[in-house]
Amino acid sequence: MEVTPLNASFGCEITGLDINAGVSAAQFKPVRAAFEAYSLVIIRSKPLTDETQIAFSEHFGKCEKTLKGNPAAGSVFARQSNIDINTGETIPADDRRMFYQKANMQWHADSAFKPRASLCSILSAREIPGAGGDTEIASTRLGYAALSDARKAEIEALYAEYSIVWSRSLIGYQFTDEERADMYRVRHKLVRANPANGAKSMLIGAHAMNIAGWEQDKGLALLNDLCDHCTQPEFVYRHQWQDGDVMIWDNRACVHRATPYDAGAERRLMQRTTIADPAAEALDQEAVVA
Ligand code: OGA
Ligand code: MN
Repeated sequence: MEVTPLNASFGCEITGLDINAGVSAAQFKPVRAAFEAYSLVIIRSKPLTDETQIAFSEHFGKCEKTLKGNPAAGSVFARQSNIDINTGETIPADDRRMFYQKANMQWHADSAFKPRASLCSILSAREIPGAGGDTEIASTRLGYAALSDARKAEIEALYAEYSIVWSRSLIGYQFTDEERADMYRVRHKLVRANPANGAKSMLIGAHAMNIAGWEQDKGLALLNDLCDHCTQPEFVYRHQWQDGDVMIWDNRACVHRATPYDAGAERRLMQRTTIADPAAEALDQEAVVA
């Protein structure tokens, strides 16, 4: 197994690891170390199966159950695809069922809107389009490091509020009352230090709707500033998918977004597993604000 950094401190590529053959605890150790160090790990692989993806994901922790709204809701997979889960036929980009694809084109951190925020997401390419459909990832760790000392001091102790009802409203999507029933507004610390190495990052992106206790206009202006800052080209990696690629991003330290492809003509299927952050467990109850 070989770990090749893409950059001094953000992103690395791993070759020579066959996830489908099963990954031992000893083999996983350098993967976890690379994840903590680089926030983004790309593993060149043969396409995973659902079973091998789950087994590999569980090395990171417990897989979250997917909420209502995704076609794979109720399983541990979030399905990012234009292929109808029941018929296998493609769904055109303007179909209501493709709203989550549109939502994914906003910069975001997965599951920031959940009472327990996420450690990481693991996205596995099962079918990739001939053109387009790249994924962009921005490092909020690099972005944080480049902030002025005054700005760092200003945001150090802040909590932000997150809501998926909010982020979906930005793209004109409304959940049904039934879907909204188990959706909350939650609060998490905006600036967070990685427990393994102390590197600070920010939990920002489309789900962040305000700073706790602030007027929303002012809170959003700050959050949007921080997101614009972190998504400047120097902090962004754009991944062009190859068949079978597996990408792991640190939801504590990155935001990411999907980019367009021709959903009428191409097929794309990505399966995502999402790991809850064990360090966020203590926050479970107090995180829910509304
Ligand atoms: C995700 C996501 C982007 C993409 O799986 O969480 O945002 O390019 N995916 O599919
Ligand atoms: Mn996502």
